[in-house]
Amino acid sequence: MEISSSALRLPFLFLLVPLLLFFLLSPWNPLHNLSGGGDSAGRRAQFPPKSLTSISPPPAEPRSPPRRDHNSATARNPLDPLTVGEIHRVRSILSSYQPFLRHFPSIQSMSLDEPDKSRVLGWKSGDPIPSRKAFVIALLDNQSHLLTIDLDSGRVETHEISSGSGYPMLTMEDVVAAVQTAVSYPELEASAAARGLSVANLSCISPSPGWFGPDEEGKRILKVLCFSKQGTPNFYMRPLEGLVMTVDVDRREVLQFSDTGKGIPIPGRANTDYRFRPGNKPPEMERINPISMEQPRGPSFTVTDGHLVKWANWEFHLKPDQRAGLVVSRVVVRDSETGAARSVMYKGFPSELFVPYMDADEGWYFKSYMDAGEFGLGATAMPLVPLNDCPRNAYYMDGIFVSADGQPFVQSNMICLFERYAGDAAWRHSELTVSSGGQEVRN
Ligand SMILES: *[C@@H]1O[C@H](CO)[C@@H](O)[C@H](O)[C@H]1NC(C)=O
Ligand SMILES: *[C@@H]1O[C@H](CO)[C@@H](O)[C@H](O)[C@H]1NC(C)=O
Ligand SMILES: *[C@@H]1O[C@H](CO)[C@@H](O)[C@H](O)[C@H]1NC(C)=O
Repeated sequence: MEISSSALRLPFLFLLVPLLLFFLLSPWNPLHNLSGGGDSAGRRAQFPPKSLTSISPPPAEPRSPPRRDHNSATARNPLDPLTVGEIHRVRSILSSYQPFLRHFPSIQSMSLDEPDKSRVLGWKSGDPIPSRKAFVIALLDNQSHLLTIDLDSGRVETHEISSGSGYPMLTMEDVVAAVQTAVSYPELEASAAARGLSVANLSCISPSPGWFGPDEEGKRILKVLCFSKQGTPNFYMRPLEGLVMTVDVDRREVLQFSDTGKGIPIPGRANTDYRFRPGNKPPEMERINPISMEQPRGPSFTVTDGHLVKWANWEFHLKPDQRAGLVVSRVVVRDSETGAARSVMYKGFPSELFVPYMDADEGWYFKSYMDAGEFGLGATAMPLVPLNDCPRNAYYMDGIFVSADGQPFVQSNMICLFERYAGDAAWRHSELTVSSGGQEVRN
């Protein structure tokens, strides 16, 4: 995702997050975590975009940015996200919390419970940071528990059992379990065979969740769809149309198996490979020369304490977020005439990415993605690749997120920050009759 900063009136800065829609994400990578200490095991499998050009100069910066030691990281700012150590502490507080003694719940989300705005605004660099708190949504015995935990006192401060409708965000474990439940359903073999395939030839995914109609009311439901993965890297091009398996995520059970598409042929695999290969036929066009943006004196922004970004007379706090992808806070600009710091925005983030397919067909009506709220824009992010996704001099940030077992994991290089040339002329004025100073170009 590229967050255009025009809304922030920062047309010069672009924040890139590899916002991967859920449908780009299957097959799922196994979750890794940091429980063993050291972040090497905490990295997800690399998403491998390859350089699309052979004429770029040799990279002058390492292909992977320097590794950061997350295990010893501490919060330096009231808004800094939970650290690895803090996530471990929340997990340990919850493990000895009476209501969870018998069973540790599934952690559907855990994040910093930000201090009140007034405290954040009153805080200055060098001040002690306000007590750190975590907000947790946990699922146990079909109930959503909303908890705030004070990390200093080690106490659960508030605990509420949700009585509203709806369910917490899905975890990767929920999604993986639903797909596994569906692919081991015996009738699937016959549906595959009717199309000349076996279950081993299929890639099955669970698109958007949701419950529809009285039979599905009160249950966490995922529909599972299958595609042929034979002879194509893009299995979405080869759907088993009309095949829908409705899975109860909590009971790990197929509630309904519907296949109305046995007569619908699977689209062929020809020309479904979108990937670059050296032998590919080049596009029909004149060769173009490489373009590079130079920053001979390096970038003009600095990042302090991992999150505080300063550029020219601007300053803001930037952090990865498991649900929203990224959060920009306390955006301040210093007035160039008075020197006074003016607050432009207290907190901003993508609230949702809603993708309704709007097709009433049996295999399609339920597809209405809410990528942030259901899957998490940060949870589904993939590592940005230096010089492919982000230019030289980019600053990379890792997300420290939480898996369903309450353990932290690293979403590496999920944000990069860089300056982009945006000096195109905004307007130009000149006077023929004024011999000097009569020409004005504003960027
Ligand atoms: C995290 O690691 C611990 C210990 O290595 C393991 O028991 C646990 O299952 C792991 N969790 C995930 C989500 O991989
Ligand atoms: C949770 O809900 C499922 C139905 O979706 C039910 O079968 C199960 O017994 C419930 N579990 C508890 C502990 O209430
Ligand atoms: C299905 O998978 C099997 C095992 O990988 C393979 O031998 C077979 O050719 C595949 N079927 C089709 C129709 O591609």
